[in-house]
Amino acid sequence: MHTGQTGHVELARAQQERWDSAYAKRPQLHGLEPSAAARQAVERFGAAGIDDVLELGAGHGRDALFLARQGFSVHATDFSETALDQLRHEAQREGLDDRVTAALHDVRDPLPPADGAVNAVFANLLLNMAFSPSELRSLVAEIRRVLSPGGVFVYAVWSTGDPCARDWRQLGDGLSVHDGFVGRFFDEDLVRELAEHWQLDELTPYHEGDRVLWRVGLTKQ
Ligand SMILES: C[S@@+](CC[C@H](N)C(=O)[O-])C[C@H]1O[C@@H](n2cnc3c(N)ncnc32)[C@H](O)[C@@H]1O
Repeated sequence: MHTGQTGHVELARAQQERWDSAYAKRPQLHGLEPSAAARQAVERFGAAGIDDVLELGAGHGRDALFLARQGFSVHATDFSETALDQLRHEAQREGLDDRVTAALHDVRDPLPPADGAVNAVFANLLLNMAFSPSELRSLVAEIRRVLSPGGVFVYAVWSTGDPCARDWRQLGDGLSVHDGFVGRFFDEDLVRELAEHWQLDELTPYHEGDRVLWRVGLTKQ
């Protein structure tokens, strides 16, 4: 893998193309059922009295649409316009377009919302994408910045306990590659490190299909 700023920019561009072509080739790539993390997030956001959610790395929107069906207002972002088009189309088809908005955004760039403007952030399998450690730390700091005090961040990531962690080819910098997709498997220490400055409410290992994941719940203090 290339290292340094230029290398990461090239990696990001290549990953954007990889995801875009995957969504173009196979619409609804992740299926129509919501993720296990989204099902659990609904409970958590509901208990906290939250009714609006910023979703990062939403893909074609299986979770954004699920959240909207449960009555949440969702602003979904991703860096694949192809996936977002599928999301918008489905939202319109289901009559949910008044509750779901979708915008192209690369989370390496600052998040658009103002400080403290968001009550909940949800990200299923985004943080384990091709980010350098410093990009990952900046992203988590940005999420904290846009959340209101007491705001909630729920995310899920691939775990080092996942069988794929052994099979994927190592690239260095903690990243691995398979079929052109680059990602990072998280150990518990990394989850805890990223939770510095937050209240860590939940750190749960779980299985989804044959994958092994972490589900993490954080509150901005
Ligand atoms: C494993 S998929 C998960 C999609 C969706 N959250 C789901 O569970 O159905 C990862 C998503 O992150 C998006 N992604 C990867 N890197 C990104 C970045 N730098 N900025 C925004 N989105 C990104 C990809 O386009 C893809 O849609």
